[in-house]
Amino acid sequence: MISIKTSQELERMRASGAIAARVKEAVAGQIKPGVTTKDLDDFARDLIETLGGRSPFFGYRGYPGHICVSVNDEVVHGIPGPRQIRLGDIVSIDVGVVYDGYVGDNATTVMVGVTEPEIIRLIRTTERALEAAIGKAVEGNHLSDISHAVESVVSDAGFSVVRDFVGHGVGRDMHEEPQIPNFGPPGRGPRLKAGMTLALEPMVNMGTAAVEVMADGWTVLTKDRMPSAHFEHTVAVGKEAAEILTVSEK
Ligand code: MF3
Ligand code: CO
Repeated sequence: MISIKTSQELERMRASGAIAARVKEAVAGQIKPGVTTKDLDDFARDLIETLGGRSPFFGYRGYPGHICVSVNDEVVHGIPGPRQIRLGDIVSIDVGVVYDGYVGDNATTVMVGVTEPEIIRLIRTTERALEAAIGKAVEGNHLSDISHAVESVVSDAGFSVVRDFVGHGVGRDMHEEPQIPNFGPPGRGPRLKAGMTLALEPMVNMGTAAVEVMADGWTVLTKDRMPSAHFEHTVAVGKEAAEILTVSEK
């Protein structure tokens, strides 16, 4: 069952989404050469606490970080640690916040200084794929219209969608129904209804779609060690258009 949030619940999800967005932006602002991924996690942990929230990632199935930091060929779920950010890296940060009982979940990928044109194109394509997904989060569409929109943008650009991880419903729990693959034919799955809240999160590889999980049990990286990008927003399905909940100012 895909839950439909009441207007009171949506109001609370706007609040948690705004905090998640604010933390994501603040963490992005800390990314520079020499900073360790653990420094970013400590910063996020402190800011989330200051803002009155907590991380839904910390302790989730034993996950040891407060955010995920995935560098270059790391796709998602990078565990913060002693690795130093370097000039030319691309760094994806995934930030979730629970506030007043509801979860906001969002991610972005930033470049550190100058990056190769093809990597810039990878990042822009992933962001455009998320925008296309959001454009389909409208009442009456089928769930897989979102999936298909992502895949179309990515395949037109000549990149690969990661198939082993999916977007998800979000609300009181970080992971609610439905699962939202980033590929597939249009017109399948349940009809979307206003008030469904979804975390849309394309993960896009420059090379092949194949990924593997590192020995730490979490960090996902590309099999071919080519770069990967990840963007995510929490949105509410609307009658005419989706509402992005993970925005820091409205
Ligand atoms: N945005 C990710 C997700 O929706 C964050 C989960 S990371 C974890 O699955 F560490 F908590 F698993
Ligand atoms: Co998510």
